[in-house]
Amino acid sequence: MTTPQPPVPVFRPGLFDGQLALVTGGGTGIGFGVAQLLAELGATVVLASRNQAHLDPAVEQLRSVGRKAASLVLDVRDADGVKAAVRSVADTHGRIDVLVNNAAGNFYVPSESMSANAWRSVLEIDLSGTFFCSQAVMPVMRDRGGGRIVNISMTLHYRGWPLMAHATAAKAGIDALTRTLALEWARHGIRVNAVAPGPIPTEGVKKAFAALPGQPHDVFSAERAMDDYARRAIPLARMGSPRDIANMVAFLASPAGDWITGAIMVVDGGEWLQKSPN
Ligand code: HXC
Repeated sequence: MTTPQPPVPVFRPGLFDGQLALVTGGGTGIGFGVAQLLAELGATVVLASRNQAHLDPAVEQLRSVGRKAASLVLDVRDADGVKAAVRSVADTHGRIDVLVNNAAGNFYVPSESMSANAWRSVLEIDLSGTFFCSQAVMPVMRDRGGGRIVNISMTLHYRGWPLMAHATAAKAGIDALTRTLALEWARHGIRVNAVAPGPIPTEGVKKAFAALPGQPHDVFSAERAMDDYARRAIPLARMGSPRDIANMVAFLASPAGDWITGAIMVVDGGEWLQKSPN
């Protein structure tokens, strides 16, 4: 089953001309999809990742079609490192208009055998990383009269998701943080929202799925199993694509979202509302 991209651009060209968007985890998966769309709409995008090898091909791909893109090696868990990196982006570009907190890590593990370090690792990347990056961009946005922060959450914690205690706890924390920062920073013109994606079969998700006990252990079979799942369990009968998520991020970051803050927008084909067929 394919996940069609919208055939025509939904947003007007040049929507983000002159603006700077920083996307954590921007080299791959959903983060890259978001960076691609924001760049297509005129933004200069700075892709941040721990891994330079993820960044180089992503930046190259964007530049090869005339987009403005740069890379930033960054571990979102390192609060001081984040502050320094954000300062360098602001110094170089003179602004940060949009922050997309997308960097995340997770893996399936039974709670009873999860090590303390495994728990901390995911909480620190997903939740602390979102806070550290938001806190670091805040003064840059405030001093320029405002900005937009979009956090990437998920829907799995609405019901609970076995083997994902760390990630579901972290993402629930991100929802709470979204609402709290929205209230604290509204007076500075900083809007803080979140997007909660349903299943988006990025390479990372396919690998995590293929590693699950009882699931097919190669990515091709994992794709087929996911398509079967989509037909059974997603009312709109397909998996999502990074572009589906990027469209909502762009909407929230655009003037169309000017009166939206503290919102968590679910983009999941109706998945979480539907009672599981299993
Ligand atoms: C059990 C594991 C584990 C696993 C790591 N750990 N993988 N425990 N099962 N599969 C444990 C390690 O043993 C270690 O604990 C601790 O976690 C930290 O591991 P490190 O490898 O040292 O950490 P680090 O290098 O910082 O890597 C972070 C990571 C890694 C989260 C563990 O997976 C990562 O960087 N992932 C980023 C990419 C990613 O996950 N993408 C998926 C995005 S998809 P000990 O005690 O041994 O020291 C997505 C969608 C979600 O987010 C949808 C879900 C369906």
